[in-house]
Amino acid sequence: MKKTIVMTGASGGIGIALAKSLSESGFRLVMVSRTADESKKLSSMFGSDNKYYDCDLSVVDNVKKLGERIKNEIENIHILIHGAGIGVYKSFEEVSDEDWINSFNINITSPFVLTSRLMEKLSRNEDSLVLNIGSGSGVIPMKNRSVYCATKFAMRGWSLSLSKEFTNRFPGFCVVTLGSILTEFGPLTIEDKKSLMQNGKDYLTPEFVAGKITEIINNPNREEEYEIYPKGYVQSFL
Ligand SMILES: NC(=O)c1ccc[n+]([C@@H]2O[C@H](COP(=O)([O-])OP(=O)(O)OC[C@H]3O[C@@H](n4cnc5c(N)ncnc54)[C@H](OP(=O)(O)O)[C@@H]3O)[C@@H](O)[C@H]2O)c1
Repeated sequence: MKKTIVMTGASGGIGIALAKSLSESGFRLVMVSRTADESKKLSSMFGSDNKYYDCDLSVVDNVKKLGERIKNEIENIHILIHGAGIGVYKSFEEVSDEDWINSFNINITSPFVLTSRLMEKLSRNEDSLVLNIGSGSGVIPMKNRSVYCATKFAMRGWSLSLSKEFTNRFPGFCVVTLGSILTEFGPLTIEDKKSLMQNGKDYLTPEFVAGKITEIINNPNREEEYEIYPKGYVQSFL
């Protein structure tokens, strides 16, 4: 029987590549995207064997309802991937209250709320896993990204702490820390990023990253943290 993965951020650059890679690897997917239109698009791409939910993760009450629905409607859950995220790249003076609240709600509160609602189902499976998509912004302090860094440092701290707390029980926790990936994430478009590549900046493709994350998920001896960076990534922030 196929194992079931619930994933948020399914409509994103990394999300679509990851869904493709995980389907090819034999998983059944429960895909969460922000809007009904995105859900429809995903269902035309990935077929009716998989399940689709839409939810605006910036609204905590909606996330609570989503968690209850998935808990009641999906019989067996093996893996939960927190992939949704927004990147507010602004100076302190530019950050609005809304930027702050949305960033925290989407990037870290929704992972907590969904994990807590699905914990009972996850803990029934001996090889279950919560996989968090982290960022170099959760490891390296970066100017003009204080809000994004705060959420990704929080996610990393949350994941690594739970990894210790759940040492001899399930689910396991793993944070995959990513450097720059060629998607629409953050203030630059893919075209902007391709122009920067012509001037020597390196970006990883979402397909490469999806392959690495699929390997991590399929590895029974996985670590609690992985860093996947393009070349020159860390040095560019020194
Ligand atoms: N790209 C990078 O350079 C990079 C580097 C390090 C870490 N990451 C992390 O990788 C993850 C995926 O990013 P990506 O590169 O695939 O970016 P992306 O293409 O912008 O995808 C982001 C995903 O999050 C979803 N999302 C955003 N706001 C939402 C909301 N209010 N409610 C529900 N879903 C929402 C998006 O849904 P919509 O499609 O509806 O907007 C989309 O599916 C993020 O957690 C990000 O922090 C990315």
